[in-house]
Amino acid sequence: MKTTVFLDGAAIRDASGVFAAFAAKGLYPADGAQNLDALYDRLSETRPSAAVITANEEALKEALGDRFDALIAVLSRLREEGGGRFDLTRPFEEKLPFSTDSLASLLAASPLPVTALANAAAYLFHTLEGVSWAGFYEKRGAKLVLSAFQGKPACTSIPTGKGVCGTAAKKRATLVVSDVREFSGHIACDSASRSEIVIPLFRGRALWGVMDLDSPRLGRFTDSDRALLEAAAREIEKYL
Ligand code: SME
Repeated sequence: MKTTVFLDGAAIRDASGVFAAFAAKGLYPADGAQNLDALYDRLSETRPSAAVITANEEALKEALGDRFDALIAVLSRLREEGGGRFDLTRPFEEKLPFSTDSLASLLAASPLPVTALANAAAYLFHTLEGVSWAGFYEKRGAKLVLSAFQGKPACTSIPTGKGVCGTAAKKRATLVVSDVREFSGHIACDSASRSEIVIPLFRGRALWGVMDLDSPRLGRFTDSDRALLEAAAREIEKYL
């Protein structure tokens, strides 16, 4: 069976290896590579028939230590056999670019709904520029209650129909607010927030709650962000 490994190594430098899991794609999607060690073990054990790896060489060396040479040997053999390519000249980037595929890989390694929500919030927060808060509110009766998030502590309960979150929940539609001061009833959990996007999440046809992102920049969320985040929401819904 053909096994292809894609590893986009921009963030391989992260010492905890957590970002490597975001980047690993196509390797046991149901089981995700939890960190660089696991990824390396699998690469050496399974001898995939193809590997496409882009990384920053210094960052990869730092992360792998003495196993760097062994990894290169595995990759070189794959390349000789025509089954792989790797490029270690990629510049180091502090932030990984957001990708729905990477989010999907990350979600696939979630044993509980809260695991998926917590990692999704962290992934959105750390990959999107200019985002000061990213998280979820879950519908409980006539209220939305705070669930997993990244950012400053936030309001714990929002009545359905109130604020941007409650309005999006009531309308069952995405709301993009380019200036929160213009939105009557906006609930200011963080006074620095200037723009916001709220996307309802569904379990089947039933409203589960909302995904909320805030930015200190006016007009941060464009039409393409909206499309991207709605696609992300459709992935996250699979794990609620
Ligand atoms: N601004 C939101 C409240 C939630 S926080 O932004 C995290 C609203 O108006 O519903």
